[in-house]
Amino acid sequence: MISNRHLIVIMAIASISVVVGSLLQCKSPAAEPTFRNLGDSATYVGIQACKGCHSDKHATFVETGMGMSFHKAEKAYSKANFLHVKPVYDKKLNLYYYPYWQNDALYIQEFRLQGRDTIHNRREKITHIVGSGQHTNSHFWTDGEHLYQAPLTFYTQKGIWDLPPGYEEFNTRFNRKIDIECMSCHTGMPQTKKGSVNVFEKLPLGIDCERCHGPGSLHVQEKSNGIIVDTRKHTDWSIVNPKRLPWKLQVDICQRCHLQGNNVLKPGKSFTDFRPGMHLDSIFTVYMPTYKGNAAFVMAGHAERFQMSECFKASNTGDLNKYNANINFTCINCHNPHVSVKKTNQDRFNQTCIGCHNANTNKSKLKNCTLSASMQENKTCVNCHMPSSDTRDIPHVSIHDHYISKSTAFNPKNPKKTITQSSSVSGLHAVNSKNPSNAELFQAYITYFEKFDPNALYMKEAQRLLAKEGENTESVSSASIGLEAQIHYQYNQQAFGAIIALWENNANDDQREALNADAWTQYRVAVAYDKGTPEKLSQVSKAIQFYRNAWEAMPLNNDFLAEYTNALVRSNRIEEAKPLILKGLSHQPKHEELLLNLGYCYYAEKQLSKAITIYNQALALNPESQAIFSLIELYMTVGDKEKAKRLYERAKPWADPMILRSWSF
Ligand code: HEC
Ligand code: HEC
Ligand code: HEC
Ligand code: HEC
Ligand code: HEC
Ligand code: HEC
Ligand code: HEC
Repeated sequence: MISNRHLIVIMAIASISVVVGSLLQCKSPAAEPTFRNLGDSATYVGIQACKGCHSDKHATFVETGMGMSFHKAEKAYSKANFLHVKPVYDKKLNLYYYPYWQNDALYIQEFRLQGRDTIHNRREKITHIVGSGQHTNSHFWTDGEHLYQAPLTFYTQKGIWDLPPGYEEFNTRFNRKIDIECMSCHTGMPQTKKGSVNVFEKLPLGIDCERCHGPGSLHVQEKSNGIIVDTRKHTDWSIVNPKRLPWKLQVDICQRCHLQGNNVLKPGKSFTDFRPGMHLDSIFTVYMPTYKGNAAFVMAGHAERFQMSECFKASNTGDLNKYNANINFTCINCHNPHVSVKKTNQDRFNQTCIGCHNANTNKSKLKNCTLSASMQENKTCVNCHMPSSDTRDIPHVSIHDHYISKSTAFNPKNPKKTITQSSSVSGLHAVNSKNPSNAELFQAYITYFEKFDPNALYMKEAQRLLAKEGENTESVSSASIGLEAQIHYQYNQQAFGAIIALWENNANDDQREALNADAWTQYRVAVAYDKGTPEKLSQVSKAIQFYRNAWEAMPLNNDFLAEYTNALVRSNRIEEAKPLILKGLSHQPKHEELLLNLGYCYYAEKQLSKAITIYNQALALNPESQAIFSLIELYMTVGDKEKAKRLYERAKPWADPMILRSWSF
């Protein structure tokens, strides 16, 4: 008899990665028309449609970092070095990573050694390269239809291979989902399939014209029909020319992407809703941690650093609705986004400074640099005032600090001064919005805790806000912090009893109904029933209902399906579970938890050799998969003690001795 104990059906609940996951258009004064491509009638047509008539812009743009931001994994687009590469070793997980080309296909291999034996060897074919290579090349692979990051990055500035940013802390191996938030900053306007996190219906290659000019269908149609505007005198309202926008909306275009923090969507908005000409804070608010002192900054943080500068603040005081290149100061005073910084003459940058800081102008009270001319030898304004710097979030990369100030300038008298990471965080602040509501701040705190930094401080702040907002409200129905947010908060605290109380007692039918199609809430309630009251068996069948709701709300999210079918399997509802599992595996064959559930189904059906095959597939994905225990038990049952022993030896260094104690070899 096989002891059920060892055919472990995993409760992978805690492992679902969170990486999933209003003001309307720009309201210009009534007299002024707005850009006509802000509305839904205009659609995205892609960069090829612009090429024919604007070949000059196209030719230089495709050579920029933005133009080359995302590609298929082909040799021509890789900036990485493949000669004499030493495998990258992750000490924490005892895994090696190695990149190689086989004919025209790029692979990343993951392996583990035990003595001289390679006891784990997984390789995945890379489908996409993200990063032009100005700083890095990171790599994506595709499981069936699902897009994931692979655990190896090439850092071009130092010419080295290493784990991707963040993986040195927590190596998610091949399991980091690439979602719409990520891709909406790194390429032309993408679109995911309904009900999925990382299955893309549209995934253009490279950031394109329409990310700064807005959807082009109207413009292309009108120009093709010969409707031409004299743009020297008039504005062509069929497409956005950023230079015609007020300075604030101009900065919003760039900081849609050049400001990466905790980007919290406004209710009902998505990451694909922003169009040039809109206020960014009508779509999402960006929260950054507030550090005490002068702290290091994130790589995609140019917009925040630049806006801290006195130059920026003092030049953009007047009319929010205007941009005058001779008065105002935005990114495009220095950058022509159609031409790479690599091909831009440094004079352009310095001339911009001198345009305001010189004896003959009254644009700045500070006419000249206070550092003596002799001290400035061989250096230019931007060399010292926009020095190249490390970043807080990305290793082996340096960028230019866009905070122009006296305190950050390179001073030859004190050349060692560097900006260091200050450890004390005091909270979060909204970068692109002046007065976020408490409900919005609450959302920012709980998601920051979950996605970026599990520091208890953030949950404390959330608790403070909840107490404050709760003071004048009796039940969640009237609270400004709604049911969904409160359940999310309790979920982060793993307070499952509180979730059930909220759901069953505090909420009314309308509120519950409104969240029926909210996959994450359904999931969190399911977990609460599943984990919160293990002693009451009846709760599992309740959990099953909610897991199913979660999955039905997001049918292409196999993590929800895995939890749902896992609960079915645990309740011995094998016949229900099996076809669902097979369906999930049909569009994502390498989902470890689904494979574990399927292995169990075959075991329960007494199809032992099939169970063995499936468990081996799971083990091939993850050397520390729970499948190993099921396999040891199954091999013992079918009398293959040799194989069982080999797996036992493999598991010894890391497995819980309590589990291993059941066998002796
Ligand atoms: C059939 C030719 C044609 C195509 C295709 C075309 N354009 Fe244009 N575009 C023009 C002409 C001609 C002008 C200048 C006259 C005008 O705006 O009517 C222009 C002007 C512009 C302007 C300046 C508008 C202003 O007010 O200063 C922008 C920005 C622009 N195009 C972007 C694009 C983008 C982005 C695409 C691709 C989605 C595109 N164009 C496709 C012909 C075209
Ligand atoms: C809010 C927008 C935003 C989000 C979200 C975002 N990034 Fe970025 N990322 C940027 C910007 C902007 C840069 C470029 C900064 C620079 O060049 O100084 C960048 C830089 C990079 C680079 C280096 C590119 C190079 O060679 O210069 C890689 C690789 C990268 N990001 C990957 C990712 C991945 C993977 C995700 C999602 C899991 C992600 N980013 C999420 C905006 C974003
Ligand atoms: C990163 C943002 C960005 C991207 C991407 C971008 N542009 Fe522009 N574009 C601008 C800005 C900013 C201006 C105004 C520049 C100025 O005049 O100072 C502009 C101006 C223009 C103009 C009108 C001004 C002129 O010089 O005639 C045209 C036409 C244009 N862009 C076409 C394109 C095309 C075609 C592409 C894609 C191949 C493209 N742009 C990609 C930001 C962008
Ligand atoms: C759709 C997101 C997005 C928007 C909008 C955007 N950027 Fe970028 N930008 C990026 C990313 C991502 C990179 C890094 C790409 C890479 O190197 O792989 C980048 C790179 C750059 C670079 C360095 C690359 C080079 O070759 O010059 C400059 C400069 C830049 N952006 C300026 C701007 C300015 C100015 C604006 C606003 C007019 C803007 N960007 C709007 C995402 C964006
Ligand atoms: C005062 C001029 C100036 C302004 C304004 C400015 N930049 Fe830059 N930017 C620079 C210089 C100088 C570099 C470094 C160019 C080089 O590599 O030589 C640079 C580089 C960059 C890069 C490439 C990565 C890096 O840091 O080396 C990005 C991305 C970028 N800028 C984005 C922006 C954005 C977004 C804005 C507006 C929020 C902006 N810049 C405003 C001068 C400026
Ligand atoms: C559009 C005009 C404009 C441009 C361009 C400009 N500045 Fe400024 N800058 C100002 C104004 C205005 C102030 C605020 C003090 C004042 O009123 O004179 C200022 C302040 C400063 C300060 C003092 C900040 C502090 O810490 O107190 C420095 C340093 C500075 N600028 C350097 C530069 C450098 C270097 C560049 C080019 C990279 C530059 N500025 C570009 C307008 C400008
Ligand atoms: C060798 C590095 C270096 C170079 C080159 C340099 N600066 Fe400075 N700059 C500094 C430092 C350091 C300070 C702060 C000195 C202090 O604290 O008094 C400063 C101060 C300033 C100030 C503040 C003046 C005040 O009265 O408060 C301005 C404005 C400024 N620089 C502009 C410029 C401009 C414009 C250029 C290019 C023409 C330039 N700097 C070139 C290092 C430099």
